[in-house]
Amino acid sequence: MREEKLGILCSGRGSNLASIIEAVERGDIPAEIAVVIADKADAYALERAREKGIPAVPVIYRDYAERADFERALLKELQAHRVTLVVLAGFMRILSPIFVHAYTGRILNIHPALLPSFPGVKVSGCTVHFVDEGMDSGPIIMQAAVPVLEGDTEETLAARVLEQEHRIFPASIKLYVEDRLRTDGRKVHIL
Ligand code: GRF
Repeated sequence: MREEKLGILCSGRGSNLASIIEAVERGDIPAEIAVVIADKADAYALERAREKGIPAVPVIYRDYAERADFERALLKELQAHRVTLVVLAGFMRILSPIFVHAYTGRILNIHPALLPSFPGVKVSGCTVHFVDEGMDSGPIIMQAAVPVLEGDTEETLAARVLEQEHRIFPASIKLYVEDRLRTDGRKVHIL
């Protein structure tokens, strides 16, 4: 077992954050949430963290002249809270290699689609993956599929996908914290 300290990055409502907090509270994920950071001051995710007594820090993108400065500010907060695993839970910014290098193999993301995906698909779903320097290209840890139903709107489909996000994201974090993931090239083996 690793002694992991999670740093969770969000941009909005934070429903994935809530599912992770619940999993930690239940004792399912044996780790501590050290800090929640949002790139917007009004992100509801910050409020959810504060309600639970978790340090909640806004790091506002437009306060910085360049992306590199913004990322350095993020890293400073993460390091100040001794974060060992970065969790991107609905974080709507692309992270450059500067950031990714600082936490190689220690950044997880949830993506609300099956990767790779394209228009007109009959199934959708979500993907938890390690973050590397590419765009949604890191090794995949877990996926869940949901049907695309006749008459689905973006909202009804997103709600069906979100339900699965709330299941596979905490489950993936648990596996990471329990040191049960082995990356072999682009493949992740679960022990
Ligand atoms: C989720 O669908 C996530 O996959 C996507 O943004 C949404 C965030 O939702 N990247 P929430 O903030 O976790 O509720």
